[in-house]
Amino acid sequence: MTDQKNRVDYEQFIPRETGFIFKFIKKDNQFIHTFIEGKLIEKVGLCPKCVVGKSLFEFLPADQAMRKEAFYEKAWNGEHVNYEGSFGGIHYLAILNPVRQNGVTVEVIGSTIDITKEKTREKQVQQMEKLSVVGELAAGIAHEIRNPLTSLKGFAKIVKESVTDQALVPYLDIMLDEMDRINEIVNEFMFIAKPNENVNFQYINFHNLLKDCIHFMEPQANLKSIKIEFDSDMHIILNCDRNLMKQVLINLLQNAIEATEDSGHFIEVVLEEVVPDAIMVTITDKGCGISDSRSKKLFEPFYSTKEKGTGLGLITCKRIIDLHQGSIEIESKLGEGTTIKIFMPKNLKIDINPSQPKHLVG
Ligand SMILES: Nc1ncnc2c1ncn2[C@@H]1O[C@H](COP(=O)(O)OP(=O)(O)O)[C@@H](O)[C@H]1O
Ligand SMILES: [Mg+2]
Repeated sequence: MTDQKNRVDYEQFIPRETGFIFKFIKKDNQFIHTFIEGKLIEKVGLCPKCVVGKSLFEFLPADQAMRKEAFYEKAWNGEHVNYEGSFGGIHYLAILNPVRQNGVTVEVIGSTIDITKEKTREKQVQQMEKLSVVGELAAGIAHEIRNPLTSLKGFAKIVKESVTDQALVPYLDIMLDEMDRINEIVNEFMFIAKPNENVNFQYINFHNLLKDCIHFMEPQANLKSIKIEFDSDMHIILNCDRNLMKQVLINLLQNAIEATEDSGHFIEVVLEEVVPDAIMVTITDKGCGISDSRSKKLFEPFYSTKEKGTGLGLITCKRIIDLHQGSIEIESKLGEGTTIKIFMPKNLKIDINPSQPKHLVG
């Protein structure tokens, strides 16, 4: 068989844009490649010249070469072998088929296809599954927790007000704080489980909403001598759920405050029109920043680097913004700070509660 002939044969089977085929033989106890073709070769950072006539150790890092050599050995012993791997950011699936003559392997034909997209999708599905587990949990127990919690909180407050032994007050304060925290987690759980429930779209002055949220967070910022700067007089009316958007802005401001050291730094909030039909809110802090490896995990449920964090803040924000057909972007540099950008459409045509009259609030 000539290489030209091989090309014709394999083109029918291998999607050349997304894969490559190769062959190898065993010579002097080493696997030597005799052929390789396909677009994926370059994408994974190889070239036919550096593969043909060479052993695995001549063009791959030693650990990868060793791993592959074990698969090659199996194939040479007559097995059909499948394995997955990644190289140069590409995930691939490889299949090795031994060609046997009179019970002896004379060469192995391998094919590799790019499965990066499938892998990404698989990850997304796993993410969704994780969320739906959270959802089921939430639906099942959130109400059960919230009701007794309300009585606990009420009674703890009464006890705090009437307690005669002042030494007990700090303990009651801790109890109340911890109950608030349970309440917060349960509420976030419930939203993640059923984001569409009780959504109330209204026309809202977004500038005022943003200002209210900043005012709300100011005492917390002041405790760390952080100033939140917001000067915009752009009054924009958006169709959105007031409480949910409040939750987003407060979550993001809270993260910015938590990331910033006590040193009189600024957090800058900007509201602007970006394209004719969208607005952008940016929240910029000069805090600890996020490393590249961590930034991939930010929207995963329960991912938190804080001792008391829930890891549900950003995913809740994303869900809320998705519900408003907007988007959220994070730009960050470790040690320098973080900018969160929220894009929201100006003319959102959603009306989840059509029975409710639309009116302007805020
Ligand atoms: N402005 C920010 N600066 C630095 N890190 C941030 C910022 N916002 C979010 N993060 C990182 O993202 C993680 C997840 O945030 P979030 O979902 O709000 O959960 P939590 O605040 O409960 O930890 C945080 O623990 C933190 O590591
Ligand atoms: Mg948070």
